[in-house]
Amino acid sequence: MKDTTKIADATYVDDVSGLKLDTSKQYTMDEIYFYEAQNITQATLKYLSLTPDKKLAPFSLAWFLVLHQEMFGDVWEWAGKLRQVELSIGVKAYMVSTQMQKLVDDLAYWEEHKSFDVIETASRIHHRAVQIHPFLNGNGRWSRMLANIYLKQNGLQPTKWNEDLLSKTNLHRDDYIKALKKADSGDYSDLIAMQSHTL
Ligand SMILES: Nc1ncnc2c1ncn2[C@@H]1O[C@H](COP(=O)(O)OP(=O)(O)O)[C@@H](O)[C@H]1O
Ligand SMILES: [Mg+2]
Repeated sequence: MKDTTKIADATYVDDVSGLKLDTSKQYTMDEIYFYEAQNITQATLKYLSLTPDKKLAPFSLAWFLVLHQEMFGDVWEWAGKLRQVELSIGVKAYMVSTQMQKLVDDLAYWEEHKSFDVIETASRIHHRAVQIHPFLNGNGRWSRMLANIYLKQNGLQPTKWNEDLLSKTNLHRDDYIKALKKADSGDYSDLIAMQSHTL
């Protein structure tokens, strides 16, 4: 991914429900993003500094939630909790837990039958996880982290996503969303190409 200029987002966050920071203060989108990034760094260190074994990262439903909690739990009350409201992206709220379990089961099947290579498996995990959109927010960063942990666990380098550039102001975001939409129709080629951009 090429470098691009990020436009500062000084908009104040209006929905502070569940925010664990001092809610008597007003925070801009950029400030919240910064606190989230600090939180996510802890998870990155835990899972990506060494090869994460199956005990540390079992790719189970329970661990999917733990990972989201580890990434966002310092900042948001709802971290690690499946959403119970409908969003514009994602499956119906009542389908979230069954779809998450289905992803866990499909992954076990893919591994058992060697259905795809490691990078395609990581792309499929990423795509399916974000398609479900199990949490109120942070689904993109969490699903890319899942894919990166999978890559690392299986001997490949994590993908360099330029996380701070994947915000709404990033020009390359359009290509990324296009790649996800293409994957919706079963063609993973663009997502795999992006996923191959390593650190
Ligand atoms: N049409 C779309 N518009 C925006 N994001 C989309 C779309 N389709 C899928 N996504 C995914 O949803 C993510 C945004 O969801 P969100 O829960 O806000 O995650 P985060 O807060 O980590 O960015 C994007 O990073 C992308 O992976
Ligand atoms: Mg978001």
